[in-house]
Amino acid sequence: MTARPNSLAARDGAYHFHGYTNALKNEQEGGFVVMRGDGPFVYTEEGKEYFDGLSGLWCCSLGFGPQPRLVEAAKKQMETLPFYHTFTQKVAAPVVELAEKLVQLAPVPMSKAYFCNSGSEANDTAVKMIWYLNNALGRPQKKKIIARVKAYHGVTVAAASLTGLPALHNDFDLPIAGILRTDCPHYYRFGEEDESEEAFAARCADNLERLILAEGPETVAAFFAEPVQGAGGVIIPAKTYWEKITAVLKKYDVLLVADEVICGFGRTGNWWGTQTFGMRPDIITMAKQLSAGQLPIAAILINQRVFEALRDNSNKHGGFAHGLTYSGHPVASAVALETIRIYEDLRIVDHVRSIAPHFEREMNAFIDHPLVGEVRKVGLVGAIELVKNKKTHESFDPKLAVGPTLVKFAHERGLIVRPVIDSLCFCPPMISTEAQLTDMFGRFSRALKDTHDWLKREGHA
Ligand SMILES: Cc1ncc(COP(=O)(O)O)c(C=O)c1O
Repeated sequence: MTARPNSLAARDGAYHFHGYTNALKNEQEGGFVVMRGDGPFVYTEEGKEYFDGLSGLWCCSLGFGPQPRLVEAAKKQMETLPFYHTFTQKVAAPVVELAEKLVQLAPVPMSKAYFCNSGSEANDTAVKMIWYLNNALGRPQKKKIIARVKAYHGVTVAAASLTGLPALHNDFDLPIAGILRTDCPHYYRFGEEDESEEAFAARCADNLERLILAEGPETVAAFFAEPVQGAGGVIIPAKTYWEKITAVLKKYDVLLVADEVICGFGRTGNWWGTQTFGMRPDIITMAKQLSAGQLPIAAILINQRVFEALRDNSNKHGGFAHGLTYSGHPVASAVALETIRIYEDLRIVDHVRSIAPHFEREMNAFIDHPLVGEVRKVGLVGAIELVKNKKTHESFDPKLAVGPTLVKFAHERGLIVRPVIDSLCFCPPMISTEAQLTDMFGRFSRALKDTHDWLKREGHA
């Protein structure tokens, strides 16, 4: 692909340095410019239609078309008070309402909401809160934080350190000190032969306990976990994993931070992924679907115990010396509040539950395909993992780039889908209809056939 001279695509190549993009390729080929959206579809400069199977970046729960209620909420707030901040006790009205709403919606008793602009910032802030809290509680050595293999918690310094994907560490001089790594609860990939799913979950919990004991429980502060590990490849925890992990965390007084950045607001068929999997978090981070991806906003919920420690220590110092210019931005908060009202009016959780069986049926139709190793899904998020050998679960040589090649074929077929190595991830807008999901998987099915034909031609299938 080479962009037309002077097109937006060419100018993008000339002037824009993207994140998560091969910079040389973008400079040479130009960007993929999206002009408008409608439901789950987006359209290019040339008018070509794509089904975005990942809701952008797991965020556009209401799709890509204009949402008049959100437009009105933003407009009204911009006309009334376009900016105010949250330092030194100041606050704008929608921020108060949003904080109250989030505390009321929380899956476990929570005390306060804190606002940021992105999931990464929320997780970095949560790390700082935990360090501050343990100093406040007079246990300054209790600072280490555990995260899992294949976790994704964002890209800022602490969040990227928690992320368990090597690409986010290579040449960035990360992770920082004090981050510990434990098992990914993916039974299909990491379960041993003849090991039951529950025995695998027990092994994960035993390994966690061993890690905490080896480090010294007095040094371990918190465990960060996504209910479903999205960017790791939509990894759904093994059965009984959370009851076993929770027991270990409680035993050693290790706080649980649930990263609900993808799962929050209905994605797994409950308001929170935490509820779907029986997690008992002390802190919850959220972003993305909080505003249907339409404005940048993230939040952290903290329970009473965490709040009291932060409150008393901030009193000692004269203030909690952490905050962002745009923490609790009034326009983003007004849009988030209206997004939640839309979810309530649409009964979005019920809608996800009603459409999830269709999503599941469509995905299960691929189980017997010669390239498909595992089909995993919960609510309206899932992945199809391609393997070289269905029986042994052996993966393709990463050099073959099977997943990325499928993505190229899918692109030609008008489908945007995300590969995590050879797992293809699906996270369609929550407002999708059954017919739209059938359309999405139809496009995927044609791309899968193209991939299979290509592998056969190359002698790999
Ligand atoms: C689970 C999870 N946490 C955190 C983040 C980081 O959020 P952001 O990209 O808004 O910084 C992401 C982003 O995909 C995520 O999936």
